[in-house]
This record gives sequence, C-alpha cells and structure tokens, in this order.
Amino acid sequence: MKLGEFELTKPVFMAPMAGITDKAFREIIRLVGGKYTFTEMISDKALIYNNSKTIKMLDLSGEDRPRIVQLFGSEPEVMAEAARIAVTYGADVIDINMGCPTPKIVKNKEGAALLKNIPLAVEIAAKVVKAVDVPVTAKLRLGWDSDSIVAPDLAARLEAVGISMLTLHARTREQYYSGQADWSWIRRIKEQIKIPVIGNGDIQTPFDALKMLQETGCDGVMIARGALGNPWLIGKTQHFLETGEIWPEPDAIEKLAIVLKHLEKVITYKGEKIGINEMRKHAAWYLKGTRNAAQFRQQLMVTSDAAQMKELLQKAFLQEN
Ligand SMILES: Cc1cc2nc3c(=O)[nH]c(=O)nc-3n(C[C@H](O)[C@H](O)[C@H](O)COP(=O)(O)O)c2cc1C
Repeated sequence: MKLGEFELTKPVFMAPMAGITDKAFREIIRLVGGKYTFTEMISDKALIYNNSKTIKMLDLSGEDRPRIVQLFGSEPEVMAEAARIAVTYGADVIDINMGCPTPKIVKNKEGAALLKNIPLAVEIAAKVVKAVDVPVTAKLRLGWDSDSIVAPDLAARLEAVGISMLTLHARTREQYYSGQADWSWIRRIKEQIKIPVIGNGDIQTPFDALKMLQETGCDGVMIARGALGNPWLIGKTQHFLETGEIWPEPDAIEKLAIVLKHLEKVITYKGEKIGINEMRKHAAWYLKGTRNAAQFRQQLMVTSDAAQMKELLQKAFLQEN
C-alpha cells in the first residue's frame, strides 16, 4: 500500500498510546525490528499555544520515516494550524484522533465525541487535508455505542475529503477497551472504500494479525496493548507477515538489555526524576512472566534513582542464570 511517498508492505503499526509511545518507546520499537510507529495523541490547542511539554512531544529528530503524528481537537481551524506546526517539526503524516473514549477528552467534543458529530469530524478532516502537503489519516472507532454505528458512513465521507488511510479500532466508545473487537466491520469498510484500511483491536500474536488480514482483507494492522512490555511483538509480527517466519522469543539477557536501553532513553529525553517515574509501569510490564515478578514489581515502586532501578532489573532478569 502507499501512504504519500511511502510504500508500505503489510504494515504493522505500533498504535498511538497516550503516556506510552513517547520518543524513547518509539525508538525501542524500531530497535527490536518494528518499522512503523505513531506519536502519542497531541493536543492541537496545546501546540498552538506553544506549551513546552507538548512541543517536546514533537521531537521526531533522528527517527525513521514515515514519522506519524497524531493530533486531537475539536476546532477545524485549530487542528489545521496544529497540523501545519507538526509538519514544521518533521511530521510526514498527520493522523486525526476520532476514537479516544476518555471522559476528559469527549467532554471537550474531541476524540470519540467526533463520532457523534459527523459533520464536524468531516470538516476537521477537510481543513487539515487542505492545510498541509503531507498525507492526513484518521483513526476511529465503530461509533458511540452499538445503536449508533457510524464508521461506514464516516469512512466514506473521510475518503471523499482526501483522507489517505483509515485505522479502525473495531469497538464502540461505550465499550472502551472491553468486550471483543468486531473485526467484521473492518471487512465491511475495506470493501466499501479505496484508501488503505488498517485493522485494530485484540491482536496479541503474529497469528492474530494474519487472521485479521485474511478475514478482513485489510491492508495492515495496528497493535496497542499487546506490545506493552513486549515491544518485540511489532517487529516479530511484521517479519511474520512478510516472510512466514517466526522469530524466537527474546531470552532474559536480551530482555534485560532492552529494558535498560529503554530506561536510558527515557532518562535522556525526560530527565531522571520523570524518567524513573514513567519507567515504573514499563518495567512492571517487561517483568511479566519472570519468576517472582510480583515481588520485583513492588520493589520497583519504591526505587528512587536510576542506579537502583537498574540494579533491581538486573536481579530480576538474571535470577535464573
Ligand atoms: C493506555 C492506552 C492509551 C491509548 N492512547 C491512545 C492515543 O493516544 N491515541 C489513539 O488513537 N488511541 C489510543 N489508545 C487506543 C489504542 O491505540 C488501540 O486503538 C486500542 O488499545 C485497541 O488496540 P489493542 O486491542 O491492540 O490494544 C490507547 C489505548 C490504551 C490502552
């Protein structure tokens, strides 16, 4: 499939995840074989007000292309301006969030609230497409709830105003992250529009990804929760879809090397205090499946500096050796 100037073969995208897919995490995904990532969702308003924390989220320097920046907002002009700003920071693609279910976001008419206001969703898309020369994509859910499935109608209208690729998280807003994603909607939308469709929801293994491609005919897949503490899943799935081969699971030594690299990167980009804080959740996820994980997780919560956290991780991952 094509996304602007980029040719992508059965792409496996690391999903945009607020609080997770920062620069450090994106670099880790690439380091272990993944090819495609999104930024976290970035507020259009915070960008145009030049909020320093938000501007840092646009640090794409040195990252592989295409660099995909996700924006959220509810005002077409503000979204258009934010998209222009993101492009000046090196965005190759602008993605519009039409699926975030969080009350704080939807109460501002942003994220999944756009599923209840199709004319506004379409106007935002049209304005952003006009504002920038790079491809503009959108990520949506099925609808607000099961009685108001709007994705087929919205998909057609987004295609008509120039959206270049659609990602469908096959759940409603009401479902949040529970229940099962209904992949049959991905197939329906793929059959209905010409632009590439990326399927998302409940992929935990490379085999799930293949099943989604086969069942829905989608052009690529996106994985979110399955990659928490398991960044290897993205590259592994990409390699499997391209070649049919399964890479072996990383052993404890490799896991330790990557979690330490991740820690080092977070501290480089955010400083030790914030870095340690943010790394606690990642480290807890990386520990999944490790002996005595619960005990190490508890200790992680009280580590106060990088050296302590490093020592603890070494103990946890090397205990078998
Ligand atoms: C903690 C968390 C943060 C998320 N942040 C975003 C976000 O910033 N933008 C977005 O479009 N989706 C976000 N999502 C949704 C995911 O990208 C994805 O659509 C959803 O988790 C379904 O995929 P999965 O079943 O592979 O987890 C988030 C999900 C979680 C669990």
